[in-house]
Amino acid sequence: DFAGEAHRRLFGKHVLITAGPTHEPIDPVRYIANRSSGKQGFAIAAAAAEAGARVSLIAGPVHLDTPPGVERVDVESAREMMAEVEKALPADVAIMVAAVADWRAADTAGQKIKKDGSGAVPPLALMENPDILATLAQSPQRPGLLIGFAAETQDIVEHATAKRTRKGADWIVANDVSGPKGQSVMGGDTNTVQIVTASGTESLPAMPKGQVAAAIIDRIANEIA
Ligand code: CTP
Ligand code: CA
Repeated sequence: DFAGEAHRRLFGKHVLITAGPTHEPIDPVRYIANRSSGKQGFAIAAAAAEAGARVSLIAGPVHLDTPPGVERVDVESAREMMAEVEKALPADVAIMVAAVADWRAADTAGQKIKKDGSGAVPPLALMENPDILATLAQSPQRPGLLIGFAAETQDIVEHATAKRTRKGADWIVANDVSGPKGQSVMGGDTNTVQIVTASGTESLPAMPKGQVAAAIIDRIANEIA
């Protein structure tokens, strides 16, 4: 029947997804993180599995159940996420939804950093993390359809368009996280996205993250059919 067919549009395809934040250790008890909940990435993994794909979900630290039929690998840091993404290749489609920490502590202390009583603060030197999306774009195993996400607070389409070119992605899904909406997107249940491709921009209305996921999977199935 039609519904059954529609549900299997990604049958035989391997879809690789990153989701959630990363945690970058400073010492054994402290880390650098961000407000990503992982909900949008997990919703996309669920929708891809429902569409019949084999789904590899590389997840940062989140409080979410694994969607049915999804193969999940948990990681903490950006470097661990990079390594697990490379292990999961090859993939037909990769969707990099994770809010990867841009910087990590240059040195990780082996023991908890202690106050010395003088009021002096510890120096915290940062270094840039590997860019997983940009690395995949340059890989000999580059997925046939490579999709990034971009959380922006201003000039959303302009920034997303520049990111698409700079990182070598096919599509960038831009979310507006400006103002009070930012709080409702990061951790919330709705999202307002624009899909930026080589041929233009499609603006979707504000929707529950499950519906955003279904819309993105629908566009992917159309693209690779
Ligand atoms: N990304 C990644 N690895 C990183 C940083 C980002 O794979 N180290 C991916 C994200 O998963 C997302 C896309 O790149 O799909 C865009 O992330 P974003 O943070 O918007 O881009 P940045 O280049 O880090 O730019 P910004 O300065 O706006 O944070
Ligand atoms: Ca970033």
